[in-house]
Amino acid sequence: MLDRTPPDDGHVVLSSITKSYDGSTLVVRDLNLSIRKGEFLTLLGPSGSGKTTTLMMLAGFEYPSTGQITIDGAPVHTMPPEKRNIGMVFQNYALFPHMTVAENVGYGLKVRRVPRAEIDRRVGAVLETVHLSALADRRPGQLSGGQQQRVALARALVFEPSIVLMDEPLGALDKKLREHLQFEIRQIAQRYNLTVVYVTHDQYEALTMSDRIAIFNDGRVQQLGSAEEIYARPVNRFVAEFVGDNNCLKGRVTAIEGEIAHLRLQDGTVIRARATGHVQLGALSTAAIRPEALRMDAAPFAGSLAATVRDSIFCGDQIRTVVDLAGTESLVVKSAAHSAAIHPEKGQCVHVGWAWEDAWALDA
Ligand SMILES: Nc1ncnc2c1ncn2[C@@H]1O[C@H](COP(=O)(O)OP(=O)(O)OP(=O)(O)O)[C@@H](O)[C@H]1O
Ligand SMILES: [Mg+2]
Repeated sequence: MLDRTPPDDGHVVLSSITKSYDGSTLVVRDLNLSIRKGEFLTLLGPSGSGKTTTLMMLAGFEYPSTGQITIDGAPVHTMPPEKRNIGMVFQNYALFPHMTVAENVGYGLKVRRVPRAEIDRRVGAVLETVHLSALADRRPGQLSGGQQQRVALARALVFEPSIVLMDEPLGALDKKLREHLQFEIRQIAQRYNLTVVYVTHDQYEALTMSDRIAIFNDGRVQQLGSAEEIYARPVNRFVAEFVGDNNCLKGRVTAIEGEIAHLRLQDGTVIRARATGHVQLGALSTAAIRPEALRMDAAPFAGSLAATVRDSIFCGDQIRTVVDLAGTESLVVKSAAHSAAIHPEKGQCVHVGWAWEDAWALDA
């Protein structure tokens, strides 16, 4: 895959940021993040993990409890929002119902006493960008959800910011429209070389839109990397389970041979997985294996485990089979529907295995 990420120029830097609203509970802990100019960075994580709080500190609506934020080297964390030249798009569009689309988009400029002709020019240009020129005289109530979201986007872009923050901007839209706008937002970001910090808890949105993804949990960045890195090389169990489907097998580490860790499962079976920094001899570990990395066959093969088919679901282009291992563990196997070596039946005895490099021995 092409690496679209620009080199790290320390454009926007968050250093040792912590945030507490009540003076005792930290909702953001020791956050260090360096955002590159022109980068599309997504903050992905479960509810309450500190994504919005981080965005609010970047925008200037919240102040960090400790730490600092710089833009091109200049500290901004105590600067008010309007001085930061950052655009912001929220999930609830908060459009003025009594104003037309054009008036909504131009409102912020009017408040700042930008001359009329200049407002008209900028509003006209930005409405063209978001494909709303034809609807400039409508009111928000006469627009679809997707069109309203475009107005919200136009309202942020009209200030010609170089940094745009978006907090779940497509959360309220249906799947088709969301995918369409995902594409458009990316296009606009590229055309104007915007630095975008985008918040979502939709992993597919994050995987498809971002140059890099920061996985948040419990106020901390768990992993920062390209979609491919995060998917293929999760650094811990949280990331492995949160992004995409993963099979997790728990076991005790009985041997480490170079890069290979041996894990003994509860039923005594020993499996092999790639050893990561988490792995310690004698300690518990979790081996994470993607469903598509599993091979299933009617006959045993080197390193395979015997299993019983619990269920097999045909999903168009693929077959998802749930198999029970000898102990309490079960696995999900994903195979291409057309080339599936076997079309498993419920109750059938099969054999499953994987290349040790495809299993990641992580924290327990
Ligand atoms: N204004 C506030 N006052 C007190 N606590 C707050 C405030 N805003 C957020 N919190 C708390 O801070 C934590 C992080 O919230 P935040 O809104 O940053 O999460 P999030 O990752 O954006 O979640 P979601 O995906 O649900 O939007 C949560 O526990 C939340 O209850
Ligand atoms: Mg939020």
